[in-house]
Amino acid sequence: MEIFGVDIGGSGIKGAPVDLDRGELAAERYKVLTPQPATPEAVSEGVEQVVRHFDWNGPVGVTFPGVVAGGATIRSAANVDKSWLGVDARSLLSERLGGLPVVVLNDADAAGVAEMRFGAGRDRQGTVILLTLGTGIGSAVFSEGILIPNTELGHLELHGHEAEKHASTKAKDDHELSWEHWAHRLQKYLAHVEMLFSPELFIIGGGVSRKADKFLPLIKHIKAEMVPAELRNNAGIVGAAMRAAGTHGERRGA
Ligand code: BGC
Repeated sequence: MEIFGVDIGGSGIKGAPVDLDRGELAAERYKVLTPQPATPEAVSEGVEQVVRHFDWNGPVGVTFPGVVAGGATIRSAANVDKSWLGVDARSLLSERLGGLPVVVLNDADAAGVAEMRFGAGRDRQGTVILLTLGTGIGSAVFSEGILIPNTELGHLELHGHEAEKHASTKAKDDHELSWEHWAHRLQKYLAHVEMLFSPELFIIGGGVSRKADKFLPLIKHIKAEMVPAELRNNAGIVGAAMRAAGTHGERRGA
């Protein structure tokens, strides 16, 4: 079965139909730049362009980089325009798409459900935590394959700083941190998350996961296994489509 997935990110809005049996894009993804300011109106126009590009006429799953209540309502907007707060994104996007059924979920949660089903978390039980390292830090927490949504672990406080301000890849770039220095910050952050949840596995996602060999070996004293995400840039699109199909992927075989 194919379902459409869209990933709303800080720089691009990208989407494609997804082959849900294989967890792969069924066509090359299409991307438009995220408008600035990224208001609900402007972003929904971008989503429309992406979906229309494929003449898609079915359910659409959409990721959002903030807390999403009930598959619809935006409850936080740390790295996007604050005018999203309180918006029923599901209705807004569905209307924009001529009434197509839409479901919206947090971007890290989407990446997590995709990784648990088709990627680095496949067949893993116990507590698994996916962290996406990018402009912010996103989190998806799974217990026995079931997602606990909207965990927002990027906003934990670490040494008086918000963790994502201190340990995201944006922080690395903004402060021109070496891999060693950044890995040290990341280690402190992971140790804190580990103290709270004692996961068996950390899956490290976000664009930087491509360079995992540069920083994962530098991270010491973490008991959990640490592996890079496998679906890379497409995890959000795949997870969004899975959610829209109702196959949440939170239980194996679901
Ligand atoms: C947001 C999260 C999001 C993460 C990654 C954070 O600032 O609060 O909801 O998952 O960034 O985009």
